[in-house]
Amino acid sequence: MSLSGAAPVRYWVADATEVPVDDEWLTARERELLARFQVRKRIKDWRLGRFTAKQAVASALDEPKLDPRHVEIRPAKSGAPTAWSSGQRLPIEISLSHTGGRAMCTVSPLRRPVGCDLEKIESRARAFERDFFTEGELAWVDRVADEATRAGWVTLVWSAKESVLKALGEGLRLDTRDVEVEPPPVTRLPGTSWERFGAVVARASGAWFGWWRIDGSFASTIATHAPSDPPVRLG
Ligand SMILES: CC(C)(COP(=O)(O)OP(=O)(O)OC[C@H]1O[C@@H](n2cnc3c(N)ncnc32)[C@H](O)[C@@H]1OP(=O)(O)O)[C@@H](O)C(=O)NCCC(=O)NCCS
Repeated sequence: MSLSGAAPVRYWVADATEVPVDDEWLTARERELLARFQVRKRIKDWRLGRFTAKQAVASALDEPKLDPRHVEIRPAKSGAPTAWSSGQRLPIEISLSHTGGRAMCTVSPLRRPVGCDLEKIESRARAFERDFFTEGELAWVDRVADEATRAGWVTLVWSAKESVLKALGEGLRLDTRDVEVEPPPVTRLPGTSWERFGAVVARASGAWFGWWRIDGSFASTIATHAPSDPPVRLG
């Protein structure tokens, strides 16, 4: 199987309203996993995430065309999602995020690490920034005077960190201050077009590259270990 294009990360975005009410589109293994969840919100988020990931994977792989129902999303031990079909791990890396009734799944060719994150933009307490941001990030976020713009940047920085931590397969097991997001060259917030960001991971893996955008009240970020063209939306 090959990807219908090489370099850029591809992604699918879906809303909760698109998810079928029945579970026919889940594989038997996925239904078993779903049956273990008790909390209503977790069930809704998980179903939305699985629906989005299956659409993303089926759409990114074009030879032969896959039925999303035959794509299986399995959690690795770390919790990171992996994509399977007919009992075989597919030659891609995926990353998944769901919040506020929306989900995004990224597909990266050739098993290149990728992380994505979707966040609702909201004002967060200064204590949040002090707990999770580096000195350098605090310094440039503090220079943003307007409170609404500041909330946008704080959300983007937080989301970018999560994307890098997901690409590393660690999530919040690592200290968020081990990832430092570089100050952007401009103070205006990104709009709906993807704009670049950079990040550095302390000790281990060096420079990371990413894209971020703001669409209404949602901030999205995607991180990869090598520079790439802007992400391409599927579907
Ligand atoms: C990854 C993490 C940062 C995401 O948190 P979040 O912002 O609340 O949620 P998001 O919607 O953005 O992302 C959730 C998705 O991240 C993915 N994910 C979970 N752990 C991951 C990891 N270690 N690496 C990469 N991706 C991961 C999953 O696909 C998950 O969705 P799913 O469980 O429905 O499949 C957080 O869940 C985490 O740190 N998990 C690892 C540590 C942990 O406590 N694990 C316990 C369960 S194994």
